[in-house]
Order: sequence, then structure tokens, then C-alpha cells
Amino acid sequence: MVKNSREIIGIIQGVEGSDGAGVKLRRYIGGPELNILDPFLMLDVFGTDEPDDYIAGFPSHPHRGFETVTYMLAGQMRHKDNAGNEGVIIPGGVQWMTAGRGIIHSEMPEQSEGLMKGFQLWVNLPASQKMCAPGYQEFPPDVMPVEELVDSGNIRVIAGTTNAGTVGPVINEHTEPLYMDIRLKADAELLQDIADSHNAFIYVIEGSITVRASDVDLNTGDLCVLGEGDEVTITALEKGARFLLVAGKVLDEPVAKGGPFVMNTRKEVMQAFDDFQNNKF
Ligand code: FE2
Repeated sequence: MVKNSREIIGIIQGVEGSDGAGVKLRRYIGGPELNILDPFLMLDVFGTDEPDDYIAGFPSHPHRGFETVTYMLAGQMRHKDNAGNEGVIIPGGVQWMTAGRGIIHSEMPEQSEGLMKGFQLWVNLPASQKMCAPGYQEFPPDVMPVEELVDSGNIRVIAGTTNAGTVGPVINEHTEPLYMDIRLKADAELLQDIADSHNAFIYVIEGSITVRASDVDLNTGDLCVLGEGDEVTITALEKGARFLLVAGKVLDEPVAKGGPFVMNTRKEVMQAFDDFQNNKF
């Protein structure tokens, strides 16, 4: 069967903003440039060595109807919720939180100096799962599989399966996500299958890359949306690169967003506000 190579269909640089109690961040998905990339509702990148930009953190707030995925590159984030769960996400660690019918949590920096860098991705849940029981999948860096590419880099696999068969620890049958943190040396090339049922994007953490059949370079801080196809070929340019490759199955359901709640209808969002105010979370 002939494979179809995905090309770049859009590049965005994100919009600077702040969230929580004043954490500076760059919003790529969920902002004016790209409101949604089904099933992805939001992607925030925070990265600063100014404590004033992150120290206030994200105090207690609710979520319903989707999943939040926090992946740290530097610094630590302490997480606490209303069910008594508590933990620290350390560099290289991931927390895949299924908010389901409702969670109230805080996400606070565990440090008062130095670099804080990481990502928060919001992944939608299908209508049938929006009111499921909340749950966590948390993995520290030492259990995250790292596939070494022969003389060309490596792939840290958080979710999904590489073409060589390395499987990430996150299990998710709703959107069958792929979430990989990839390092490629200069001129190295990587081929990765991505099911044609999925939307996909690349975020460049550092360096520069190109995507086959797209005559454009992607540089540090760029996010590109990939078009249709069932595989992608990525090549690092002269200085090498580190980037995230993320994909998820399109849900193709109506989306009603209301702050920290993402449901299918406006009525369900109003119900979420009501339930939250009446301590039903
Ligand atoms: Fe949150």
C-alpha cells in the first residue's frame, strides 16, 4: 500500500498571554491563531527563568469534560486535587489527567528560582466519556521509554508507538494519542506513521527542521499543523533539533467551551458551572 506523506498546512508562532495567577505563557492552540485542532483544545508553552513570571502558579480551579496533559522540561510543578491526590511533576515527567465529570486542582511551581519550562495540552474527550470518573496517568522520566536512533538522536515516547515499536506508557482509547519528544542530530531524518484518522502537529523546542514535501524551515518556537496523510518525514537542519510530535484521533463532535469546562452543548457548560458552584465536583 502506498503511504501518503503529510505536509505542513500552517505555521503559527503563538500568542503571548498569562493564565492562572499570572503565569506568563505562549498559547498556540486555543487562541486567535488556531482555536481548536480536534481533538486538541489548547496548547500552552511556558518557559522563563524569571520567577515573577511563574511563581504565582495556577491556584485552585476546576475542569470538566476533557484531559489536561502536563509535560515538564525544566522546573517542578506540585499538583493537588480535591480528592486528596498530590504529586510533583519533575523535568521529563508527564501527568495525563482525565478530568472527566470534574476535578478541582492547583498546579503550583515547586521552586522559587531558575528555569521553568513545560507544556500543557488539553485533549478533548468524546461525549460518551465527558462525565467519566476522574483519573491520572503519571510517569516520571525514569520509566519513560527512550528509543535510541542509530547515530541520529532519540525519541522519548509518552504516548503512541514509534515505527521501531517503542510504546509510550500512556493508555488512551478515546483519542489514541501520539506524544513524542524527539531529538535529531544535524541532517538526520525520521519517518513516523500517523494514522490518517488523526490531526497532528509539531512544536520545535530548539533548532530547525523541515518536513518532507514542504519547502519551508521550522525554527525554535514554531508550531506547524500537518495535513492529511498516514506518515510524516522530518529532517533536522544543520544544528540539529528537538521537537514534540503530537497527534490524536479527530472526534468530530460539537464543542462548547466555557472557561475550564469543555462540553458538547452550551447547556452542559452551564450545568458544569452550576455543579461547581454547588460543590458537586
Ligand atoms: Fe488545571
